Amino acid sequence: MFIENALRYDIPVHVLDPDAQAPCSPIATRFVQGRFDEKATVLSFARDADVVGIEIEHVHIEALETLQAMGKRVVPDPSVLRIIQDKGLQKSFYRDHGIPTAPFTLIDGPDAITEHADMLPAFLKSRTGGYDGRGVMPIASTQDVERAFPGPSVLEKQAAIRMELAVLVVRDDAGNIVCYDPVEMVFDPRFNLVDHLRAPARIDKPTRDGAIELARTVANAFAAPGLYAVELFLTTDHQLWVNETAPRAHNSGHHTIEACMSSQFDQLLRLYLGMPLGDTTLRAHAAMINLVGEGGSGEPTLSGMHELLGMPATYPHLYGKRQTRTGRKMGHVTTLAADDATLDRTIEKVKHYARVTPANTSTVARSNT
Ligand SMILES: Nc1ncnc2c1ncn2[C@@H]1O[C@H](COP(=O)(O)OP(=O)(O)OP(=O)(O)O)[C@@H](O)[C@H]1O
Ligand SMILES: [Mg+2]
Repeated sequence: MFIENALRYDIPVHVLDPDAQAPCSPIATRFVQGRFDEKATVLSFARDADVVGIEIEHVHIEALETLQAMGKRVVPDPSVLRIIQDKGLQKSFYRDHGIPTAPFTLIDGPDAITEHADMLPAFLKSRTGGYDGRGVMPIASTQDVERAFPGPSVLEKQAAIRMELAVLVVRDDAGNIVCYDPVEMVFDPRFNLVDHLRAPARIDKPTRDGAIELARTVANAFAAPGLYAVELFLTTDHQLWVNETAPRAHNSGHHTIEACMSSQFDQLLRLYLGMPLGDTTLRAHAAMINLVGEGGSGEPTLSGMHELLGMPATYPHLYGKRQTRTGRKMGHVTTLAADDATLDRTIEKVKHYARVTPANTSTVARSNT
């Protein structure tokens, strides 16, 4: 998605990824198979780069610091990434900057949970290495300690959530900031993954203003140029808490490709090049529905393409991953509408028709619930 946009500007993009069949491999200017958590690999890959960016947090930090010391522009700043890579440091950063976040404590392993029974029910989050809901588990009571994962973690009080929001913020070198409309994230409880999101979020103006203000505060606290996706909890008593921040293009900004004047990928490119930030205006009511693999593993096939393309302002994105498996994000569909009621209907239609399954299994139409 980043490359699609970069092509318009005739900007060469080189990509490092461990998967030889990474979806971008046929369209990148140069593709290198290799591990981004290996210092030497990252250094040799980016030796000749002008700008270095990331699409996942788990990139070797010292390699990025070295590249920055060599005079390359590195976005996000490695010092910011160092904080974000470790959920313990990240939560402490919010607390130290007076940014509201769920109460938490740092523990060395699950044995310590019983000493913090006052935190329960809680969420246990591995300090490093988690992604897409992996490394996060609810702990309802001390009985759950047995199945808790090992290692240094954040034990975080369960928030009474009314709605989960995300605000994308872009901060340039001069400290100028632009924000996108807050989006509402709707979760699929089966996979603990975002099922779909919608923009604008169905919240009142004070909540919208508060969410944007909080996201700006987070970007200013990091005090470095970057694209930040700030995930928020709106609690049942109308407080806004920061859950976590991703310093990169994010799933909660995929709708911006069609729904906004300048997409998150366009902003990132502008930021990399030191160009003026883009216009974040939302053109319509929008939803982004994740296409998540169902029915096991194998070569993926999408059903419902005919129906999707028969719907107005509906845009399927297939990521081109070679293998699907249950719960894997395989693509997404963005759909635009004039109002929330129309959007509700299109979301249901998209979810009804669009399904990614292994090629060799027959599919059964999903019930419309
Ligand atoms: N303190 C909490 N109270 C209630 N629910 C929570 C809490 N922390 C996390 N959750 C739930 O778990 C989800 C995943 O948590 P979190 O965003 O911290 O993990 P993650 O693995 O980094 O997720 P992702 O990469 O998918 O954003 C949240 O979006 C929310 O639904
Ligand atoms: Mg999250």
